[in-house]
Amino acid sequence: MKLSPFIDLVNKNCGLLIESNLSSNLSSAINTRMTKNHLDNPNQYFHFLQNSTEEIQYLIDLITNNETYFFRERLHFQICIDRLIPKILDKKPSRKIKIISAGCSSGEEPYSLAIALANQFGLDIFNTISIIGFDINESVLHTARNGEFGPHSFRESATPYRKNYFQKTENNQYKLNSSIKNAVKFYRCNLFQPSFPKWLNNADIIFYRNVSIYFPKPTKKVVFEKLGNALNDTGHLILSSTETFSHNLKGLSLVEIEDSFIYTKQDADRQNIQSKPEPQKLPKASKLKSATTKNISNSPTPFQAMGKDTSSPKNPSLLFEISLKNAIQKNYDESFSNLEALLDLEPTHIEAKNLCATIHINLKQLEKAKELCRSVVKQDEWNIEARLLSGIIARMEDNPNEAVKWFKSVIFIQPSCWTAHMHLAELYNIEEDFKGAFKEYSLALKHLEKNGIEKRNLSYFPLAYNKEQLIHLFKHNLKNLK
Ligand SMILES: C[S@@+](CC[C@H](N)C(=O)[O-])C[C@H]1O[C@@H](n2cnc3c(N)ncnc32)[C@H](O)[C@@H]1O
Repeated sequence: MKLSPFIDLVNKNCGLLIESNLSSNLSSAINTRMTKNHLDNPNQYFHFLQNSTEEIQYLIDLITNNETYFFRERLHFQICIDRLIPKILDKKPSRKIKIISAGCSSGEEPYSLAIALANQFGLDIFNTISIIGFDINESVLHTARNGEFGPHSFRESATPYRKNYFQKTENNQYKLNSSIKNAVKFYRCNLFQPSFPKWLNNADIIFYRNVSIYFPKPTKKVVFEKLGNALNDTGHLILSSTETFSHNLKGLSLVEIEDSFIYTKQDADRQNIQSKPEPQKLPKASKLKSATTKNISNSPTPFQAMGKDTSSPKNPSLLFEISLKNAIQKNYDESFSNLEALLDLEPTHIEAKNLCATIHINLKQLEKAKELCRSVVKQDEWNIEARLLSGIIARMEDNPNEAVKWFKSVIFIQPSCWTAHMHLAELYNIEEDFKGAFKEYSLALKHLEKNGIEKRNLSYFPLAYNKEQLIHLFKHNLKNLK
């Protein structure tokens, strides 16, 4: 049977990439549905399918991978209870806190969260927090709404909460107590549909775990962007640990909490998850390590370390110093006016141009930044900083090929530049060239450990990490890539 037209049709409708692991699902699903519809050849069925959205839904229900279980990646629930929820509650929001489980399958994920919340805060918490699960697959949603689960759903979790929150039925199933069942709403929704429904917007936390692995790259990107937009300004996105590092999520930064990484909106209140509240336990939480948070993306930058300077410019080096201090303090207007004065005095002042380009990058004025970098490279062909900045601009413009070229050119000039290796590693990782990413992370790690963070060839670009955090991050990524 020729599967490609079916694959295209399914992909068009729900974004699913039918790879080898799902294609056997697809053939048997087609056979099942052909029999059900009394059709005896795939062409007839394809024709029928093209004209019936209902039939497409039946087919999708048969091919999605719905693997899930209670308290899968338990630490994520612990982080919610210990870190995220208390901080959101502290702000006393006037509206209900909204937590979404995107691709919730038969409900074990949102129900785990509901159990964890009830266990920690009592059932009244559901007056303050709403939990919504959604999935494209109508039949798993039926199971979710029904709230009855087999022993397999508990394969990774111990029994205390099963005793407290479930009733065993005669046929060896476990029926969820209505107090938890009623706390979670389920909807059918396709992550790939052009716009999300209202109930998905303004979310505080979105669980999006073990779903994107089935999507082709362009779909992954679109869905990430949409989920990022669905989060409110201080929202968090939680991916499974295997997915976390393969993405470049615009507008979201990575925060490490113990061994887990979650994404958080860039302008989120940094205190939100940085401070360590009293540990609060989930059932069987004694097995968990106590969480310590390192906010990798938001650690102080060198720019934040210096004081405001209002002295008036006297000569090029003083002008530069003042510009730098102002840039560090994010007094960009002040910095620009001093740089302008400096470039009037010395139009070929390379450091001034690079600083100016860096500020433009920070302000997302990429054309201006590009122009300045080009002029530096024209003036000094081997200028590493302008080349690195050009690579960063290309990344921001979503032009990975161009970015790779720039970073490779830096490595050609200076093979020990860990910054260039780090960017290449991230780019390869996003492109799913895991071998390339592994090699580049190894080199970034080696050169960073040997030469230190100072040798990063970016004098002014704010660095979001300190050396230890970077080493930790590189090692973590290498472990994942292995
Ligand atoms: C492997 S399960 C993950 C369940 C749960 N998030 C977990 O981690 O345990 C993936 C789920 O994503 C759902 N899914 C796949 N494509 C989807 C789409 N386009 N829109 C919504 N859900 C989708 C599938 O139906 C399936 O239930």
